[in-house]
Amino acid sequence: MELRGGNLCFLYLFSVFFIFSVFLAQSFKQDEEQVQRSQFPDGFFFGTSTSSYQVEGAYLEDGKGLSNWDFFTQIPGKIADDDNGEVADDHYNRYLEDIELMHSLGTNAYRFSVSWARILPDGMLGSVNPRGIIFYNKLIDNLLSKGIEPFVTIHHHDLPQVLEQRDGGWLSPVLREEFVHFTSICFESFGDRVKYWVTINEPNMMAKFAYLKGLYPPAHCSPPFGNCSTGNSDIEPLIGMHNMLIAHAMAVEMYRTFFWPKQNGFIGIVAHAFMYEPLRDEERDRDAVDRALAFNVAWTFDPVVYGDYPAEMRHCHGLELPRFSAKEKQLLRGSIDFIGVNHYSTLYVKDCIHSPCPSGGDRPIMGFLNTTGYRDGVPIGEPTGLDDFFLVPRGMEKIIDYVKQRYNNMPMFVTENGCTLQTQENELEDGDRINFHKSYLASLARAIRSGADVRGYFVWSVMDNFEWINGYTKRFGLYYVDRETLERTPKLSAGWFASFIRNNSHNDREEIRAASGHNKTIIFSQLEAKVAEM
Ligand code: NOJ
Repeated sequence: MELRGGNLCFLYLFSVFFIFSVFLAQSFKQDEEQVQRSQFPDGFFFGTSTSSYQVEGAYLEDGKGLSNWDFFTQIPGKIADDDNGEVADDHYNRYLEDIELMHSLGTNAYRFSVSWARILPDGMLGSVNPRGIIFYNKLIDNLLSKGIEPFVTIHHHDLPQVLEQRDGGWLSPVLREEFVHFTSICFESFGDRVKYWVTINEPNMMAKFAYLKGLYPPAHCSPPFGNCSTGNSDIEPLIGMHNMLIAHAMAVEMYRTFFWPKQNGFIGIVAHAFMYEPLRDEERDRDAVDRALAFNVAWTFDPVVYGDYPAEMRHCHGLELPRFSAKEKQLLRGSIDFIGVNHYSTLYVKDCIHSPCPSGGDRPIMGFLNTTGYRDGVPIGEPTGLDDFFLVPRGMEKIIDYVKQRYNNMPMFVTENGCTLQTQENELEDGDRINFHKSYLASLARAIRSGADVRGYFVWSVMDNFEWINGYTKRFGLYYVDRETLERTPKLSAGWFASFIRNNSHNDREEIRAASGHNKTIIFSQLEAKVAEM
């Protein structure tokens, strides 16, 4: 009897252990899932992303005017090491070499932005700088000659400083006219070859960083969000965003009326799109997750798809949330052909309606919620080199699914995904970056298998560059950029991405390292040859 009881107990424990191991193996398998190029549809774009201020440099060359970032970075204490983008990666002068790097990777798309101050140093009251136009023409032509599709973002954080001083930046409705003028010049000059346009990159992030936290120019904020010399964090982000969204809609209408009939391109907008999960397994935190998504992602996309702000926002803000006129709603509705998702990480969300929250989480502008990367001291995923950026691959599938459901599965691009490492001790041997991309791509492949209409994936970034307030202290590139010589050197991740794009399931680190010949700018045909031998 006793023996039988012992046996049963053993059997029970064994079964629990077995089920647990299977469960563990399953979850491990999900993270370790091998991802291959062949899991993505034909015609899928695999590209890299940059933006003008972050890579171009040449801040006063060939007639360029000063941008708000040229100006802002001169203020001591704003940027790590008081650095700036005066030289950045000198992409303005090295663009041919950089196109070679992209070609070596085997990418078929490059997402870059146009420096507004290079094209219109004085905004719409001045003339067009022809040498600015020539630069982007050369860039576009050379990309196309290598089979690389240009994806052009018209506005990615930097604007002529004169628009800040003369007009009041995005807080002023005048910026809508300024933006439309700028876009018309872009369409006119480049639209015969550019088929994919993004009007504005991350207006949601720009509005919050410029007018809520005061960390981006023009550095407006108020307590408890920060101590700026001017600003109103509760209201100004809403006004800045409102002007950007209307500017977007006006530009799209102009494109569709005057340029599309001849140029036949696609136009979209890109949002900063983290995923969120409830901090506590409770209804109130699950509701807060819905609000977090509405206040970030849907804040950008609802207006341009449905013509108005998300109901969740109206509910929290009431009258202080600006209203679109009937004409504006009509312009906004359906004003994109595709959705651009910049996805990096997932955070926990805590409700602040029913629980007390410090540091502004109890304000409408925050959606009555707080976000955190930690639950009981345990991070939501492996931390990376930036606060709030964790390795949470499942978030990719979830955010794509959210966008798919909310916007009826309209065409999507992952316009940015990437990471900076926790330590830069051996930045060239960036196995963690390879794991990051592999696991996020595997998650994206799952979303696509479930029917999501995703048409491209862009790595942020092709090379290390100026990471805004972090200056050059955070590196996101597949290529390492030496800050003294500006020499570009492929990291291990560059070799892996090239190998992945060529649909090579071979992921052995030694082989990739050998093939990528770390200390010189290599052409990945060496890698291809190795793959062919196998
Ligand atoms: C999104 C922004 O668009 C880009 O400019 C930035 O460098 C990356 N996130 C990484 O933070």
